[in-house]
Amino acid sequence: MRLSLRFILPLTVALALVAYAVVPLVDRLTLRWFIRDIEIRARLIANSVHEPVEELLRAGNQARVVQYFTRLTQDERLFGVAFCASPDANPLGTASVPTEIACDEALRSGTPASRTISTARGNILVSVLPFAIGNAPDGRLVLLHDMSFVQRRSEETRKYLFYFFVALGATVSLITVAIAQLSWRGLVQGMRALLRGEGLLRPAAVSYPAALRPIAQDLRALIRDLEADHQVRDHERLSWTPEALRTILRGDLSGEEVLVVSNREPVLHERLNGTTVTRRPASGVVTALEPVMRACSGTWIAHGSGSADREAVDAHDRVGVPARNPAYQIRRVWLTPEDEAGYYYGFANEGLWPLCHIAHVRPTFRAADWDAYVRVNKLFARAVVEEAHSSDPIVLVQDYHLALVPRLIREALPAATIITFWHIPWPNPEAFSICPWRAELLDGLLGSSILGFHTRFHCNNFIDTVDRQLEALADRETFTVTFKGDQTAVKRYPISVEWPPAPEVSARAVEACRLSVRARHGLPVNHALGIGVDRLDYTKGIEERFRSVERLLAREPEWVGRFSLIQVAAPTRTRIGEYQAYEERVRALVARINAQYPGAAHPPIILLVSHHEPDAVAEYYRAADVCMVTSLHDGMNLVAKEFVSSRDDSGGVLILSQFTGAARELPEALIVNPYDIEECASALHAALTMPPAEQRERMRLMRGLVSEFNVFRWAGRMLLDAAAIRKRARLLRRDSTFESLRRGVRDTLTRPLA
Ligand code: G6P
Repeated sequence: MRLSLRFILPLTVALALVAYAVVPLVDRLTLRWFIRDIEIRARLIANSVHEPVEELLRAGNQARVVQYFTRLTQDERLFGVAFCASPDANPLGTASVPTEIACDEALRSGTPASRTISTARGNILVSVLPFAIGNAPDGRLVLLHDMSFVQRRSEETRKYLFYFFVALGATVSLITVAIAQLSWRGLVQGMRALLRGEGLLRPAAVSYPAALRPIAQDLRALIRDLEADHQVRDHERLSWTPEALRTILRGDLSGEEVLVVSNREPVLHERLNGTTVTRRPASGVVTALEPVMRACSGTWIAHGSGSADREAVDAHDRVGVPARNPAYQIRRVWLTPEDEAGYYYGFANEGLWPLCHIAHVRPTFRAADWDAYVRVNKLFARAVVEEAHSSDPIVLVQDYHLALVPRLIREALPAATIITFWHIPWPNPEAFSICPWRAELLDGLLGSSILGFHTRFHCNNFIDTVDRQLEALADRETFTVTFKGDQTAVKRYPISVEWPPAPEVSARAVEACRLSVRARHGLPVNHALGIGVDRLDYTKGIEERFRSVERLLAREPEWVGRFSLIQVAAPTRTRIGEYQAYEERVRALVARINAQYPGAAHPPIILLVSHHEPDAVAEYYRAADVCMVTSLHDGMNLVAKEFVSSRDDSGGVLILSQFTGAARELPEALIVNPYDIEECASALHAALTMPPAEQRERMRLMRGLVSEFNVFRWAGRMLLDAAAIRKRARLLRRDSTFESLRRGVRDTLTRPLA
């Protein structure tokens, strides 16, 4: 409507101005035409009446002449006719000839002549024509034509002109509005197309007027900003759920293919007492990605490491998960024992794992392990390429086992969007430079479109490392690295857990969990309970944790027999000497500490070295008064967040190592330095004596954070960034097509004619 007014108003004004100028012009023109017509007519009349009038005059019959003239004036326009024989004669004519018509004047004027006079009857055109008769050779015939019809016609003409201009105005307005609407719609469609990431050269569907193209660049930049702003605001407000993730995939990524590749698979099939059981491994990667994959389907490529894995797959090495009503597919990659020894136990876990964690275990790098690492990375990359149905899938590469995979995929599928997430810390450049294959690892990782870490600190370390080790452009302002012509965005995505928690987590009331766990371990119902849940890994600070329990009991003996720490320790990487030694040390430490209190009703530490499924772990979380996370170094540590998410009663206290990524997000925990045993013992005492109101206050704040920054947000943000990268790439591709077309046209036009 506003648009129409904007077009119609100026048009109306323009037309009014035109009409104002044109009407008098038309008036003058038509008057001139009419006069000329009347003059012709007058000449005709004079010629026609000459003979009869001459006869009558020769016969001296003046009365008959007047009669004859009067008959002539019956013509509606001929108002009067007179004959002047000489200048001093009286005009011989009809009664209608006004007195001001005098023969002397008529005879003086040259002939033919005409003039307009105004009379009581209106304007009259007086035409004087030569009329020589016998004895009056200079005689004149005076014809008076009524000009009022001219005025009438002029009025009519004005009226018609007015209607004409109104009709013209309306027609032009309608056409203008229609064209404007069409162009506007085109413009809007164009903008929408741009918002969708399509370019100006979208064939057929949206064709842009040539005049729009020069502003396309600016327009696109503006739209990009608006889009980013809009998206940020929208997605900041969004409540991150599996459905929200699916919406992103449907909307921003319009159902595009998502592939995940990691070493550890989300579900293992194991043979147990002649039957096949499924097991979910203790892995941060699995904890985070499993709910994401359930939300967005797709295929997860991983090492088939379960003892019954081969029996569970189909002919293409795939298995649907969950078995009943599968939500996604696992594609299993098979490794030989040599592959596994060199790639997984050797390079990944004896080399990279200690290299990236400051846990004072020396990394071991062997050339044979590196060869296996390269070989196996190729296997994984090949499986990704096989599973991809399109040339540009979104591939989420997980962790330090697969550092070479991004580059290998980039080479095979150049249009793929590769997001690599490094789940463990990234060391400083000096520490990283220990690795003999540092350049190859960096090159591999820089095949990614996006490289993610949990914390800004690790992003900085990575950029510093690249700066130090490679001939690459590391931009600290945009946090991008340009290497071999490709750009990798280095970004922070703090990982998290699923929210709301899986129904199994809260299936049993907290009170029921407290009772059942205490009963299982022969503890009284009011026994104070701490919980630790970790893989039996030297980075987890399990020894330090036990020592702090030992210190608490020494400092605050009232807890002896009244407090126990249950440590759930999942065996891990058990073929590695360092892990075997660690387990031995941990077991020995527990024995030593417990032995100090032989008379205690209940042991200070209960060590459970076995795998526990997530629902069993949740029961321990809910039963505990305090959860201890004392990692010496950890990318994030999801145990801390799992504990928080499981406590829907807002009870329980979290003790959290300052060397975890989680400590940056959960300051309401009791933050400790795990190396400082005194501090940890104090924190333990503070936790056990913390009033319920303070526990609730802290826990609610932490739950608020975890609920908002959940794993769906972690994945969602990465996928949104992937979507933005893809849109930008499409625009750039179209820009270059447009540019080459433009150049082609210019060259053709400027080429000299042959
Ligand atoms: C860490 C790593 C994961 C790994 C997990 C369990 O969380 O970041 O990639 O899966 O440990 O280790 P495992 O060697 O058993 O897979």
